[in-house]
Amino acid sequence: MKARVFSGVQPSGQLHIGNYLGALKSWAEIQSRYESIFCIVDLHAVTIYQNPEELSAKIRETAALFIAAGIDPQQSSIIVQSSISGHAELAWLLTCVTPVGWLNRMTQYKAKAEKQETVSDGLLQYPVLMAADILLYQASIVPVGEDQSQHLELARDVAQRFNSLYGETFVMPATHLPTVGARIMGLDDPTQKMSKSAPGAGHAISLLDEPKIVQKKIVRATTDSQPEVNLETMGPGIANLLTIGLACDPSLTRESVAGMRYGDLKKRIAEAVIARLAPIQQRYREITADPSYIDGVLREGKARTSPIAEDTLRTAKRAMGLYVLR
Ligand code: TYM
Repeated sequence: MKARVFSGVQPSGQLHIGNYLGALKSWAEIQSRYESIFCIVDLHAVTIYQNPEELSAKIRETAALFIAAGIDPQQSSIIVQSSISGHAELAWLLTCVTPVGWLNRMTQYKAKAEKQETVSDGLLQYPVLMAADILLYQASIVPVGEDQSQHLELARDVAQRFNSLYGETFVMPATHLPTVGARIMGLDDPTQKMSKSAPGAGHAISLLDEPKIVQKKIVRATTDSQPEVNLETMGPGIANLLTIGLACDPSLTRESVAGMRYGDLKKRIAEAVIARLAPIQQRYREITADPSYIDGVLREGKARTSPIAEDTLRTAKRAMGLYVLR
């Protein structure tokens, strides 16, 4: 039997090149070797208020982008979190074995909570729901960007605690980070992670940005005061652009850009990004031309994965002594 892979993306904001290089690209690369489930985590998105109309459009848009980025819906299951009730149900069971102290320590929680006037309980429970997503399918591999590492450690801690309290129930999931692109920084501020929710037109390259926009954003990206690429002394802005370029175009090497003037480097990186995004955008347009196609893919994903979810949930409930209909 193939090992199972699970990962997810929140359908909030515009998917960007960081989401692609940190996650979607490796999903597409590894999907044939595993039984893969890729999830649009809308229950996670609503831990912070989302405009309902926009959210419902973004769920389908995100599914279309998964496919456009190379996820093959015949090979992998694409699902929407809220369409399978087991995610929320298992999250509750896991909440009951998770000490609040573990959640209070999460760095993403602290960073997000700081920006909210009122912090929802959902925002604190966010990593428990994430653990439930993974454990519900007994996934052993979780391909993510570096920012999710702490959440995955927590998922393992929660699984371990459940297993030691109630007996071996959950498979221990391993974190899978890409070799290049695990942490893409903002173009406007290379000390901050590129993020869907960060304001500023020059912050992120959206997967659907037109070539002209991509070029403009890269030309304006923050660098340092050196005139040309010095591999030893370059600042974080150039290092970030270089990472983006190397991840988008395998023919580009660090050695080949050494000594290049920043203006020329930016032109070369912009070409690499535009060439990488072109087929994704073309495929996205084809997919979205038929509005019923995505719903069909999501319906099929749910049909394939629901039996696994139901089975794990039954096992977990039984382990805890909860009532399970015979
Ligand atoms: P989300 O929606 O913030 O991001 C989706 C994926 O993109 C990666 N990523 C990045 N990688 C490199 N550089 C960046 N600047 C960058 N920004 C984002 C993220 O690491 C992620 O892999 N909590 C998750 C979604 C989730 C999930 C799960 C993931 C919910 N349940 C279960 C794995 C397994 C999140 O908010 O991702």
